[in-house]
Amino acid sequence: MFLGNSSGLYSKISNFVALILLLMPLADKKIVLIVSGGIAAYKINYLVRGLVKKGSEVRVVLTPSARNFVSELTLSTLSKNPVLSEFYDAQGVWNNHVEIALWADAIVVAPCTANTLSKMVHGGCDNLALAVYMSAKCQVFIAPAMDLDMYSHPSTAQNIEIAESYGHSIIPAQYGELASGLIGQGRLEEPEKIIEHLESFFLRPRLVMDLAGKKVLITAGPTYEAIDPVRFIGNHSSGKMGFALARQAASRGAQVVLISGPTVLELEHPHVKVISVSSAREMQSEVFKYYDSVQIAIASAAVADYAPKVVADEKIKKSEDTMLIELVKNPDILMEMGQKKKEQFLVGFALETQDEVKNAQSKLVRKNLDLIVLNSLRDQGAGFKEDTNKIRLLSGDKQIEFDLKSKDEVAKDIFDFILTRLPS
Ligand code: CTP
Repeated sequence: MFLGNSSGLYSKISNFVALILLLMPLADKKIVLIVSGGIAAYKINYLVRGLVKKGSEVRVVLTPSARNFVSELTLSTLSKNPVLSEFYDAQGVWNNHVEIALWADAIVVAPCTANTLSKMVHGGCDNLALAVYMSAKCQVFIAPAMDLDMYSHPSTAQNIEIAESYGHSIIPAQYGELASGLIGQGRLEEPEKIIEHLESFFLRPRLVMDLAGKKVLITAGPTYEAIDPVRFIGNHSSGKMGFALARQAASRGAQVVLISGPTVLELEHPHVKVISVSSAREMQSEVFKYYDSVQIAIASAAVADYAPKVVADEKIKKSEDTMLIELVKNPDILMEMGQKKKEQFLVGFALETQDEVKNAQSKLVRKNLDLIVLNSLRDQGAGFKEDTNKIRLLSGDKQIEFDLKSKDEVAKDIFDFILTRLPS
């Protein structure tokens, strides 16, 4: 009786806690707010006030030049914590940047000037704020603010891209009137919107960013080999597996180049560059523009093995009852990747109908792969147009067989396996 009552009570309490977490995602969250020296720093009082009202504990760290734009007394009063900006305080006591960084559930850099952004992504560490940032293990949010030309400068765009490749969340600058009197993109996002970004982060199921900093190249879809301006030799590949791999890698923080043959699929993700090609030769030429710079390369494309020797300039008119088209072998892109392999982890696909494991093993060796993903056309639900796939992974002498799953889940299994083999 007692147990029954007690477990009912526990479940009520845990439901209540879950409800509080849902309604107040920032309650009890520890936020380090790094403020750098731009005029937009005047908005930071509202950000601190807003976070404290949401139940967060806030510690403010200023870059040296931010001290010219804000009042330390106001910020320490609002945050109920001392405001830090030097490695040592007035009494000569060390402000332990590692302790501050590890204390945080999230670090917010707002406003983030072009200078601080540049130092952050290139390892500059000449003040306490940067040392805190570099010691962080939690999610970092960057809210840039600067004049419009600085914001649109290629170096800023590149630095933002690098910050994203580290897995940081960018809170883009807004369009409007700037302190310079010019109108354009560069305004610090409003404090309440910055708070919304943080809330949605803490509400989201925890994403694993275990591919952050990695570059991944994926080939996908069919190739079309032209016969004349309107006809081609192709296959039924939908591209679904390759696109699922690209989505998976990007959602885990990787920068992805997805080189795809013709498909109706689309993928818009800040970490994915989609390159559309048609023929095997076009795919080959794009692949080797990126291959040297990636750590993981996955060939999931169904590349046509042969292409017409001659492509007619004009539409071929029907005449005889039979017609012969002479075909020549296409480059084996994956084989070439295997030959040129340096540090890349190289993955191929094998779609087999008989002697599956034996054929896949021989491709693994012949193409110098680290892993081969085997699908058997004899398995129901595996194949080109399906949303599901049933795979076996072969690597060295290791073999793992998986159940029939969605292609998104299959992509997850593949990257989980790859990560067990990558140097940490
Ligand atoms: N592949 C490639 N370029 C080609 C042919 C294949 O990059 N011209 C890649 C595919 O993307 C896949 C792997 O090689 O990852 C297996 O392709 P497959 O055509 O099955 O292998 P082949 O070596 O051509 O063997 P076979 O045709 O005898 O099955």
